[in-house]
Amino acid sequence: MKPKRNWGIRMAQREIHFGVIGCGLMGREFASAAARWCHLVNLDFVPRIVAACDLNRNAVDWFTANVPGLRLATVDYHELLADKAIEAIYCAVPHNLHKQIYIDTIQAGKHLLGEKPFGIDLPANQAILEAVRQNPGVLVRCSSQFPFFPGAYQIVQWIREQRFGQIMEVEAGFWHSSDLDPNKPINWKRQISTNGEYGCMGDLGVHVVHIPYRFGWRPSSLKAFLSKIVKDRPDKEGRRVPCETWDNGVIACEVASQDQQFPMFLSFKRIAPGHANTWFIRIQGTRLSAEFTTRNPKQLLSLPYTPGGAQEWRVVDIPYRSAYETITGGIFEFGFSDAILQMWAAFCDEIIHGPDMKQFFSCATPEETAASHELFTGALESQRTNQVVRLA
Ligand SMILES: NC(=O)c1ccc[n+]([C@@H]2O[C@H](COP(=O)([O-])OP(=O)(O)OC[C@H]3O[C@@H](n4cnc5c(N)ncnc54)[C@H](O)[C@@H]3O)[C@@H](O)[C@H]2O)c1
Repeated sequence: MKPKRNWGIRMAQREIHFGVIGCGLMGREFASAAARWCHLVNLDFVPRIVAACDLNRNAVDWFTANVPGLRLATVDYHELLADKAIEAIYCAVPHNLHKQIYIDTIQAGKHLLGEKPFGIDLPANQAILEAVRQNPGVLVRCSSQFPFFPGAYQIVQWIREQRFGQIMEVEAGFWHSSDLDPNKPINWKRQISTNGEYGCMGDLGVHVVHIPYRFGWRPSSLKAFLSKIVKDRPDKEGRRVPCETWDNGVIACEVASQDQQFPMFLSFKRIAPGHANTWFIRIQGTRLSAEFTTRNPKQLLSLPYTPGGAQEWRVVDIPYRSAYETITGGIFEFGFSDAILQMWAAFCDEIIHGPDMKQFFSCATPEETAASHELFTGALESQRTNQVVRLA
């Protein structure tokens, strides 16, 4: 007989009161995820968004109209930090504001799920990390949802179980394409003062390195190839203004530790013709190779190998089997907003259960963002000098 499903209906749920700072694209995505928490089953915690802040009144008004239970809507984030009943903050603001707002949040004793790149540059990231060190009771994590796609999560499980044998090569990337249109209006993500000199790497990079870094695959040296393709874009008045940031970045790295050495190719592209939010990882090993891309979100490719055996790629439509159990049937498809929901569950799980989370994979850590800043800073140096750069 099929085991009876436990829907967790009678489970008491501990409420975590959240404030959202930055009510733009990602802030709204989070509000929507909170609104369908009932999608998840068997969880003993639930986030409640009780406050929202954005400098843009229209963005705050969207929260007032759409988030039941919102009791504070403001243009000043300090009001959220002064509110004793708010336990945690999700912050999604332009990169030049990360340092100040993240540090203020951490020092106010609020748990923080911040957006990447966790500081506009290396010094900003180091200042945030110092605040993290000084406030060990506060949980600080960086948003990175793609490893929660079932296909990616399966690969993460295989790495954890050391199923790949000797790793021969890793390739990971995150590709967009809408910037191919030279008439796409400029926004803060194309300007150094708000996005940072890293350009596409700061914008896309943490997503790419989250899985490799989690398993200690950190580059010991790199050579970067950065390109600026569209040099100006129209502003609101239609005047063409400089588009300052790197559009595309490809980094060839060597991963070398005591027990392993292999090349790793990382790519961050704002202009990859035809690609819309394509995140992927490919791993080649002596006992297993595997590939997952959000371009085919249901498909997982794998090639298990035993010496002398056949080399046959398997393609499966992977079931909707997520890190946190949901009401969704296994035959249905998983998408971007599901990944956000799963990632948020991981953050809340860690607030409530610490190292005894219900599943093993957490959001990106501050230390992983620090390693990503060393990578991007090294890549800028490599581009400037046209040299291979060694990382500490
Ligand atoms: N995880 C992902 O997949 C993903 C996707 C896109 C963006 N992001 C990251 O999310 C962050 C925000 O990006 P976005 O696309 O949501 O940008 P956005 O421009 O849509 O939203 C940013 C919001 O911050 C507000 N803001 C600016 N200054 C503020 C201040 N002092 N106080 C409060 N609000 C302020 C702006 O008015 C705007 O509404 C960035 O760090 C970006 O890299 C992550």
